[in-house]
Amino acid sequence: MLLAIPNVLTPEQVAEGRKLLESADWVDGKATAGHQGARVKDNMQLPVDSPVARQLGQIIVKALSTNPLFMSAALPLHILPPMFNRYSGGQTFGTHVDGSIRSLPSGQRIRTDLSCTLFFYGPEEYDGGELIVEDTYGSKSVKLPAGHMILYPSTSLHQVTPVTRGTRLCSFFWLQSMIRDDGKRAMLFDMDVAIQRFGTENATHPSVISLTGIYHNLLRQWAEM
Ligand code: NI
Repeated sequence: MLLAIPNVLTPEQVAEGRKLLESADWVDGKATAGHQGARVKDNMQLPVDSPVARQLGQIIVKALSTNPLFMSAALPLHILPPMFNRYSGGQTFGTHVDGSIRSLPSGQRIRTDLSCTLFFYGPEEYDGGELIVEDTYGSKSVKLPAGHMILYPSTSLHQVTPVTRGTRLCSFFWLQSMIRDDGKRAMLFDMDVAIQRFGTENATHPSVISLTGIYHNLLRQWAEM
């Protein structure tokens, strides 16, 4: 499932974030690429322990933890600290797949179920820089407004097309979901959305309670923690 989460950050948070990111010290993104990634990766990144990355990362994770759409779609168990990348002057990241296991700062290893890209610059500010994700039903091209985020399965092949004008600045990170299987997670999300809609229209309908019970019982069956 590929899902856009609008307005993860407020315009004020985006403006503040851009100011911090524009004054930060960037390094070659190849530094953190694996074997396969290093051949196709050409961008700049903030070091994971950079104070700007830490500060902004905390703001992003805090904003996500109170975002109902994100919580319902991702059912997150662990969120890796957000990282930041920058593309300009034709930089690009060719087709690759993200590593399946990554470490939290504590050393705990987590499985990457979902990948997230949060945009800090609007689509009108640069040419190219589309995130192309190969989904079950073909390729999807993603370029979202500043403050919006895309959530997509970490199992998918993806790339960032060359940025031929301006600068593309994003946060990217991974999470382990309580629901490992993308199909099961998508079903739970669809069910939650339908129950919410039903509940808004018929708050007192007994089926709302029954369906909510079924949702939680499925989650209880499938959740891994
Ligand atoms: Ni990637």
